[in-house]
Formats: sequence, C-alpha cells, structure tokens
Amino acid sequence: MKFFIDTANLDQIREAQALGILDGVTTNPSLMAKEGITGKENIINHYRAICEIVDGDVSAEVIATDFEGMIQEGEALASLNPQIVVKIPMIKDGIKACKYFSEKGIKTNVTLIFSSGQALLAAKAGATYMSPFVGRLDDISTDGLGLISEIRLIYDNYGFKTQILAASVRHTMHIMDCAKIGADVITGPLSAIEGLLKHPLTDIGLAQFLSDYKKGN
Ligand code: G3P
Repeated sequence: MKFFIDTANLDQIREAQALGILDGVTTNPSLMAKEGITGKENIINHYRAICEIVDGDVSAEVIATDFEGMIQEGEALASLNPQIVVKIPMIKDGIKACKYFSEKGIKTNVTLIFSSGQALLAAKAGATYMSPFVGRLDDISTDGLGLISEIRLIYDNYGFKTQILAASVRHTMHIMDCAKIGADVITGPLSAIEGLLKHPLTDIGLAQFLSDYKKGN
C-alpha cells in the first residue's frame, strides 16, 4: 500500500519524507492556491521543488479542459521530471487525453471520480492511477469507502492494472478502512498518517519501561 501526502506545503512534504514512509505527493489547484502559489511559472517551479524533496510520483494537474489543451499542458508537465504524473479531470476529453498519454508511456491520474462507472472508464483508458474522493462522498451522506470496495471488485474481476488512489482521505480511520478494502494508494494530510502512530498503551508502556530503567541505573 502506497502512502501519498495530499498537500502543496513543502514543510509538510519534507516532514512526511523524513518519516521514511512517503511514496509520493498529490496536489491540485486548490492546494496550490492554499499555499499562495499562483501563476504558471511559480506553479511549475513548485512542482520542481516537490520533486526534489520526494523520490516517488508527484501528481500535477492540468488546467485545460479540452483535449488539445490537456495534451499540451500534460506533455509540458511530464517533461519537467520523470516523477510527474499528469492529473486529468474525469470528463470526456480527459478520458481521451488519458488514453493518449497511456499510449505515450506518460503516467496519469484521473481525478474527481465519484462513481464506479467513471472508475471503469479510467481503467479502460489505461490510467496509471484514478482518484475516487472518499471524504467528499461522505460529506453528502454517500458511502465513500463503499465506492472504493466496488472499484476494487470491478478491477479485480478484470485484472485492471490501474491503481486505486483513495483521495479526499480526511482521517486515520479512512486510511485503515482503505487498507482493509485493498486500495493501492491513499492520499491524505500528514495528520491522518501520523494518527497511525498513536496508541495510549504505547505511551503508557514506554513511560513504564523508562521509569523502570531509571530505578536500576
Ligand atoms: O486528493 C483530493 C483532495 O485534495 C480533496 O480533498 O479534503 O478537499 O475533499 P478534500
């Protein structure tokens, strides 16, 4: 199971990388804007900076919504670094672009997936990754994790190689539920990943070990 961090914040990316368990980074235009990264040049430089910090795949999203525009933008992004994965919206021209990139050997991440039908199309188009948004479905009283299960079943039925990248993961239990279902990747905030570290019995046990050590030394 791969762990990606879902942020454009370089400090958080460094912190996750230092933990030694980071497999990649996902970004989107909203996450870039949150960090105050605006303008084509600055955004490109930010992708370069992220690639220098991490070893794994870095999703960089196209802004164009037409086929030609997505191809032009995606090829420019892919040429920045072999780690770049071209992130494409789940729309008709996005599926066409995904097929084009897949035939060219350029890695893709089809984003904004909210149904198993969309997931099926992304796999048929040869996507490297596809991103179902777990938290945003939960937000509207729809079972986000249920969608991950459905997609796992469909992909396993046909042996699709497209990796299920569970996105909009908001907390630690989302990660654990995705692990049980068999998502290939989760992407979420550092806080959700760090939540996996925590158990009160670990803290109590460690305090006891240290106090017993002090008694004999
Ligand atoms: O990876 C997708 C993600 O950035 C969306 O997360 O929390 O805005 O739904 P959220």
